[in-house]
Amino acid sequence: MADKGKSKSDVTEKIVSLSKRRGFVFQSSEIYGGLNGCYDYGPLGVELLRNIKEAWWKEMTYRENIEGLDASILMHPRVWEASGHVENFSDPMVDCKSCKSRYRVDVLFEMISAKVKEAIYKKAVETSTPEAPVNNMEDAEKAFLNDPNIFLSEIPCPNCGNKNTFTDARSFNLMFKTYVGPLEDSSNVVYLRPETAQGIYVNFNNVKESSRQKLPFGIAQIGKAFRNEINTKNFLFRTREFEQMEMQFFINPAEDGKWYDYWREERFNWFTKYGMKKEKLKLHIHEKLAHYAKAAVDIEFEFPFGWGEIEGIHNRTDFDLKRHTEFSGKKIEYFDDQTKERFTPYIIETSAGASRSFFAFLCNAYDDEEVAKENSDGTTSSEVRTVLHFHPALAPIKAAVFPLVNRDGMQDIASNITEDLRKNFKVFYDDSGAVGRRYRRQDECGTPFCITVDSDTLTDNTVTVRERDSMKQERIQKDNLKNYIEIRVAHNSSI
Ligand code: GAP
Repeated sequence: MADKGKSKSDVTEKIVSLSKRRGFVFQSSEIYGGLNGCYDYGPLGVELLRNIKEAWWKEMTYRENIEGLDASILMHPRVWEASGHVENFSDPMVDCKSCKSRYRVDVLFEMISAKVKEAIYKKAVETSTPEAPVNNMEDAEKAFLNDPNIFLSEIPCPNCGNKNTFTDARSFNLMFKTYVGPLEDSSNVVYLRPETAQGIYVNFNNVKESSRQKLPFGIAQIGKAFRNEINTKNFLFRTREFEQMEMQFFINPAEDGKWYDYWREERFNWFTKYGMKKEKLKLHIHEKLAHYAKAAVDIEFEFPFGWGEIEGIHNRTDFDLKRHTEFSGKKIEYFDDQTKERFTPYIIETSAGASRSFFAFLCNAYDDEEVAKENSDGTTSSEVRTVLHFHPALAPIKAAVFPLVNRDGMQDIASNITEDLRKNFKVFYDDSGAVGRRYRRQDECGTPFCITVDSDTLTDNTVTVRERDSMKQERIQKDNLKNYIEIRVAHNSSI
């Protein structure tokens, strides 16, 4: 591919620039200088995002044992006490007293030079104990993260370069706080939810009773989540406002291993079904577990800046339902009619970011390809085309329709085809410029099919359909176009 040899940051920059140029993603409030960690989805982006969410929703809820839900973003503040977010959802931070820069402690460690790391290593060895020996830099990093205050005097501020200017590390809660009603006092505090999962747990009884589901069954939800992230780098990867696609599967505790394995496979396969290259995905099993988890695995994608989590699959045990029972005073349990057993279900959670998956699908699809070009004198040469190889089901625009030239009624036929297809798909009409240039414009936004009306159409009602990835053309009866696109959208894995 033409991009070989280009640095990974070049590729990220190209994707960010294409996103803006073609209307996938804009910076939030750009005309005011932007708001860090917030993005707007443009005309093509909103289609791609909706298609990803639709593909997930169909996959997860078009089943007998999974119900959908749309819980509100603002919830009773006790929910977040029960979940552990008020107490635990925080990052240790330090501030530079001189230049006022604020750093997450783990990020600060990444930013310091090799020489300063050596000094930290020395100090870690000096202060180590037999229970926590320090034999290498990894041990020193652990010692630093465990008690950063011992080491801060060794580190110059990465922004102003001053030493001995850091405050002690303090916990900084990532939840956004606001108030309900007119009084801004502590009794009216509510939080913007940092995950959609809790809305599902507190509705367990409602959904179970109204839908008459029996274990095992799941509840799925797509919705916005908010985290006051300190470090928002890497475009859409870590933002302050984002969307999650979460499913909580309620089970008998005796079956937790089986269902954990099942959902790990299902979720991995979902990404490949929609065109994610297998070599760009891997599983990362957690050794250090969150306070609620018995087992956890991430599905990671290789972004241009490195591997990053796109979805987590967690065995959350009965932690959440027991905590909500304790904090609300309402029993959240299950009675098995057959075994006459009463118990608190375990939960296997699948938690994906819709916006982070969007970024992963975009990176996965992006390519600068060297392709052959026919010149007007009959010779061939090569050129580079930028193309997004989206699976047709995810592509923002499914087809573009062109009249080859603007005469002999070709425009009218092309317009009629466009209107007809628009009853079912997002379709784009384009009659300006050379056909080769029109193809390139569609390649760049990932349109899988370009339909051209030419002089043969006038006599035999056929059109050419040019497929984005292979660039092959075939002739199709224009009355068959809807059927053709429908089949390809449903079954094509075009990468
Ligand atoms: N309910 C479990 C939970 O929220 P998580 O690992 O914190 O688990 C799940 O988040 C997914 O949400 C992540 O895999 C990621 O795709 C997405 N996500 C989390 N924080 C995000 C952020 N700041 N920006 C974008 N996506 C985020």
